[in-house]
Amino acid sequence: MSSFSIHPVIEQYESFEDYAAVAKLCEKDLLFTNEFIYEPFMKAYAGETKVLFQERYGRGEPSDEMMDAIRKDMPEGIERIIAVGGGTVIDIAKILSHGGDWAVEDLYLGKVVAPKVHELVVIPTTCGTGSEMTNVAVSALVKQNTKKGLALDSMYPDRAVLIPEMVKTLPYKFFATSSIDAMIHAAESYLSPKANAFTEMFSERALELILSGYRFLEAEGTEKWTERAGDFLLASNYAGIAFGNAGVGAVHALSYPLGGAYHIPHGESNMLMFSEVFRKYKEKKPVGKINQLEEMLGRILGVPAEASLDALADLLNVVLPLNKLHEYGVKESDLPVFTESVITGQQRLLNNNYVELTAEDMMAIYTARF
Ligand SMILES: NC(=O)c1ccc[n+]([C@@H]2O[C@H](COP(=O)([O-])OP(=O)(O)OC[C@H]3O[C@@H](n4cnc5c(N)ncnc54)[C@H](O)[C@@H]3O)[C@@H](O)[C@H]2O)c1
Ligand SMILES: [Fe+2]
Repeated sequence: MSSFSIHPVIEQYESFEDYAAVAKLCEKDLLFTNEFIYEPFMKAYAGETKVLFQERYGRGEPSDEMMDAIRKDMPEGIERIIAVGGGTVIDIAKILSHGGDWAVEDLYLGKVVAPKVHELVVIPTTCGTGSEMTNVAVSALVKQNTKKGLALDSMYPDRAVLIPEMVKTLPYKFFATSSIDAMIHAAESYLSPKANAFTEMFSERALELILSGYRFLEAEGTEKWTERAGDFLLASNYAGIAFGNAGVGAVHALSYPLGGAYHIPHGESNMLMFSEVFRKYKEKKPVGKINQLEEMLGRILGVPAEASLDALADLLNVVLPLNKLHEYGVKESDLPVFTESVITGQQRLLNNNYVELTAEDMMAIYTARF
C-alpha cells in the first residue's frame, strides 16, 4: 500500500509586507523567528504582534531542553503562531503549537499525548528541510545523546508561505547545507519502498531544480546562488512533499548520531553519509530502482547513467567540500556506538531503505568516511 497527500495550504508572496497585509497580523499572533530575520523583513509590518526570538534560547539546532525553556516563555492569549526561519525555528514551532504540561523529552519518547492548540503558519527562510510540508519535528534529545524525528499528524502546519526574498540573506554555508539536505530528501524518498508515481514526480522535479542550480554555480561561481533562490526554495518544498509521503532512510538515520553527539549541522552530516550509503546500496542491489535514479541523474548531469553517482558526489564537493569524520572530532571508538544507536533508535527511518543494511554495513559506511 502506498498513499499520497499534500497537507498545508501553500501561499506565495513577493515580500513579507504582502503576506502581512493578507494575514492581518494582530496581538493574538506570535511571530517565532530570529532577530536578524525579524529586523530587516518583519519589524515594520509586525504591529501589535508578539515576538519571540529562538536564538535567545541557545545556538544551533533544536534540543528538548531548548524547547522546554521556550514553552515556559510562551506569551498568554496567543491563537496563531507564525514561524519564520529555517528547520530549527519551524520544528520548534511545531512543538509549540501543542499544549499541556509535559517535558518535550517525554513527548519524543511517546510517554505523553499532546493536543494541538494553536494554528501554525510556516515561512521557511532556508532552502532545505521542506519542514513546512511535513508532520515531522526533529530534535536533539540531550540525555539520549542523539537526534530523533517525531512524526505526528497534528504537527502538519496549517499554511506554508513561500517568499524567496527572505531566503537571500542566508549565509552561503547554510544555503549549501540546507539545499544538500533537500537534494537528499528527494533522492532518499525516490528509492524508498513507500515511493509512488506522485512522490517520484516531486522527487524528480526537486532533483532537476537543485542539480541544475548546482551546475549553474559550478559554471558561474557559488556566490551566484541567490539568483536561483526561488528555484531552491521551491525544490526544498517539493522534496518535503516527496519525503513527507515516502520517507527518508539510511542517510538520515546514520547522520543523526553525528548531529546529536558532535552538533554537525543536519545537511552537512547528511552529506557526510550520502555517497557512502548510496555506494553501499548499489553494491548490495546493483539492479533495481537505483538504476532509474542513475538514469535520471545522468540525464540531469549530462553523464552516462553508470557514472552519475560519482558525478553527483563531485558536484556536491563543489557546493560544500566533503570532510572526514575525524576532522569534526569524532573518535574511532564512537563508530560502533553510533551504529548501535542507529539500530536501536532509528527504525522508523531504516524501514525506508532501498535495501536492508546490517550493523556491519553501517560500520563500513562510518569507517569509509572516518
Ligand atoms: N521537520 C522536518 O521535516 C525536517 C527535515 C529535515 C531537517 N530538519 C531539521 O531542521 C534543522 C536544520 O534546518 P536548516 O537546515 O533549515 O537550518 P537552521 O534552521 O538550523 O538554520 C541554519 C542557520 O541559518 C540561519 N538562518 C536561517 N534563515 C536565515 C536567513 N534567511 N538569513 C540569515 N540567516 C538565516 C539560522 O539562524 C541558523 O543559524 C535540523 O534540526 C534538522 O534536523 C527537519
Ligand atoms: Fe533532512
